[in-house]
Order: sequence, then C-alpha cells, then structure tokens
Amino acid sequence: MTVKIGLLGLGTVGTGTVEILQEPQGRSPLLKAIEIKAVGVRSLDKPRQVNLPPEVLTTDLETIVTDPDIAIVVELMGGLEPARSLILQAIAHKKHIVTANKAVIARYGPEIYEAANQHGVYVLLEAAVGGGIPIIKPLKQSLGGNRIESIVGILNGTTNYILSRMTSEGADFDEVLTAAQQLGYAEADPSADVDGLDAADKIAILASLGFGGRVKREDVACEGIRSVSAVDIAYADRLGFVIKLLAIADGNAGENSEALQLRVHPTLIAKAHPLASVNGVYNGVLVTGDPLGQVMFYGRGAGAGPTASAVVSDVINIVGIITSSDENPALDPLLSCTHQHYCQVSSIEDLVTRFYCRFLCADVPGVIGHLGMGFGNHGVSLESLVQIGFTDGCAEIVVVTHDVREGDYRAALEEISQLEAVKEIPSVIRVLS
Ligand code: NAP
Ligand code: HSE
Repeated sequence: MTVKIGLLGLGTVGTGTVEILQEPQGRSPLLKAIEIKAVGVRSLDKPRQVNLPPEVLTTDLETIVTDPDIAIVVELMGGLEPARSLILQAIAHKKHIVTANKAVIARYGPEIYEAANQHGVYVLLEAAVGGGIPIIKPLKQSLGGNRIESIVGILNGTTNYILSRMTSEGADFDEVLTAAQQLGYAEADPSADVDGLDAADKIAILASLGFGGRVKREDVACEGIRSVSAVDIAYADRLGFVIKLLAIADGNAGENSEALQLRVHPTLIAKAHPLASVNGVYNGVLVTGDPLGQVMFYGRGAGAGPTASAVVSDVINIVGIITSSDENPALDPLLSCTHQHYCQVSSIEDLVTRFYCRFLCADVPGVIGHLGMGFGNHGVSLESLVQIGFTDGCAEIVVVTHDVREGDYRAALEEISQLEAVKEIPSVIRVLS
C-alpha cells in the first residue's frame, strides 16, 4: 500500500524532509510506503537542493490540501497565515497533519485540534519543539505515569548558538546572528528567536502537554536576549554562572501553588547545572516529574536534518496507522489531543526567584549602604554584593539576591533607581534557583 503525502514548503526543513524520504535505505521500512505527490512553494524558479519531478512542485497550495489522493499534509512553510487556513482546510478534507509550526500551534492549537478531532485525523508536531529531540511523544506517552512538576528548557537553537559564541569567543551579537541565519537555524524573521517569542511558543506547547490543559500563548511572560551584554556574560562567569535563554513551565514557583508559572528570559545558571553545558545549536529540556525525578532530553534543536528527523518520525507514525488499520479507526488518545480546560497561570509578579543585577553608581561613600537599604526596605535579602570595576567613571556594582518575590524585587529596584548615586541599572537577569 502506498500513502501519498503533500508538503507545504520546500525550504530548510522541507528540503531535509525530502532528502530523508528519497533515501529510505537503512531507515524505517515504512518510508518505502510513502510517495511525495505534491510540494507547495512560493516560487517555481528558485533553485532547489533536491531533485523532484517538475510536475510535483506547485504554487497552488489549495490543490494539495484538497487533493483526494493525499492522506497526509506536511506543513513546513511557517508563519501564521496562510499556514493556519491551509491546515484547517486540509483537516476539513480529512487529511492528517504533520507540522513544525510552533507559532501556529501555540496560538491556534485549540481551533486546530477541535477540527482534527471532529474529522478524525491526527495533528502531530514533534518537529515544532526541540528540533530533532523527541520531546512531544515522551511527554504525551512515555512520561504519562508522572505528575509533571516542571519543564525547564533551552528551546531556541539560534539564541543558544548566539549566547554560546558570545561566551566562548567574545563574538559580536550581529555577526553570530548572521551565521545562525546562514546555517538555517533562524526563523524567517529572526526577531522571533532573539526576542524569545519562538521559545515562548514552544514552552506553551510543552506546558499544555505536561500539565494537561490548554495554555494561552499570551500567558507566557517573555524577554529575549537583546539586553544580554558581553559585560554580564563576563560577570556571570566570574560568579560561577553561564547565561542561557531558558523557557520554564513550573508548577511550584509562584506564590499561588495551584497556578503554573510560564516564562522565557535570559537566566544565570550555575556552571554545574545540567543545562549549563548545552551549547551551540543544541537544545536541552529538563523535565521533573513524580515519581521519576529529573529526566533530560538533549540534541540538535534546529537545522535541516535534525528537524526533518522529527518530521519524518511523525509521518511514519501516521503511515503505520493508515497501513495497518481498517477504514475509519478511532483516534489513538496517546497521539491525539482532547484538552478542553485552560491551565491556571500565575503572574510573573508572583514568581519567587533569585536575581542578578548590575548597577552603575557614582563612586561616593555610602552608596553600597544605600543599595542595601533600598533592598532591605522591600524584604529583599542579598546573597552577594561586589564592586568589581569602573565603567565610564562609574563604579560597577553587581548584586545577587536570595529567593525573592519578583513584585517585591521590582519595587526595590524602583526605589533604588531614584537614588542620586545610582546612574544606571543596565541589567537585571533572573538566576535559576
Ligand atoms: P524556510 O526555509 O523559510 O522555508 C519555507 C518554505 O515555505 C519555502 O519553501 C517557501 O517557498 C514556502 N512558503 C512560505 N510561505 C509560502 C506561501 N505563502 N506560499 C507558498 N509557499 C510558501 O522555513 P524553514 O526554516 O524550513 O521552516 C519551516 C517551518 O519549520 C517553520 O514553521 C519553522 O518555525 C519550523 N522549524 C524550522 C526549523 C529550522 O531549523 N529551520 C526547526 C524547527 C522548526 P519558497 O522556497 O518558494 O520561498
Ligand atoms: N528558529 C528556531 C530555533 C528553529 O532557532 O530554535 C527551531 O525551532
């Protein structure tokens, strides 16, 4: 039996996917059952890295999602529209969906999954989070016996690549971003990577799977890496930390223990922490569950081959079901999604965490005392306070706090920023507790 598939998109991931499908030797025998019937692109004139018969390529993507011969639509075009509409149209035509599009799923997941359940088709998205790392299926299936307590991940390859090279080589931000784009890691608009939006999409998806409810994308507090400077990376190093863009879903971090904390931000993590050594385009996801404890997933988080590996694994899953079952099998609950309620999410103000903060102050007597007083007035306890150097004639003072409620910390910073001796507060970075 042959299963015909249609691809929407033949860019970085689409090309990697076709390469695997065209070279089935030594891979899953199910690959031999797959035929690429059509591939939708924007331009027919673009040179392609894979050989496909010219009649397979089309710019009319609607013919793919409505083609009665096609059983699986693989959406690898990215962006919100027309990707969302094409996915919904394909579902309405009873096609299974495989997608790498975390932006669409994080925003329109409920609409898409409701349509999929109604039409009895699967929407699989292993490639949408963690590139080649298997993390969706483990959360849906292998960890199902656990009560998930937290998911902490380096989920964006582009920013991890940038921060790693800034740390190891002192490389310049813009130069490294260009390299990440050339390597095919970055989104079409790389601000989605750099501003943390892509990682926020991904943690919204993982949280929904791990904590068993829908998650509103806007509930994820999000800061990117534009504010992370070489100076902070160097101070972090001296204090025994590295700086990573972490995406966190925590069932225990807020004052309201019933609610989830969802956030993406640059974070100081101790050099001994398992995520500290996840460098370059690699992603790492540390899941803590009861009774398992910690389990870590690690691998290449972006790029053609690794992402295509995840895409093809989803295609194979569906091909396996299609080729081995009767006409209209019931949906497997371990592969489909039936969440109805939304997870309760607490405000970032209620987060309890440690903070690193760098101050530029006038070098006058008593300034450290004033800083200590400002923090003390809001119940913020300090773990360390060091004056290391001078920048632009100002004393550079670095403070690391003990655990503190974020709202109280921000109130202390507001009071401190009014002090005459405090000239600037260039960076405030959370520290993983
Ligand atoms: P890409 O290189 O920009 O490729 C996009 C492809 O879609 C191109 O072939 C483009 O056609 C086609 N396309 C886009 N808009 C179209 C439209 N309106 N009509 C027809 N064709 C259209 O993107 P990518 O890096 O492969 O990413 C694809 C998806 O995978 C995105 O959702 C992304 O977030 C996700 N993803 C990417 C990676 C990665 O490492 N790159 C990893 C994980 C997930 P042309 O070729 O004619 O321009
Ligand atoms: N732009 C994304 C990243 C692609 O850098 O992680 C993988 O989802």
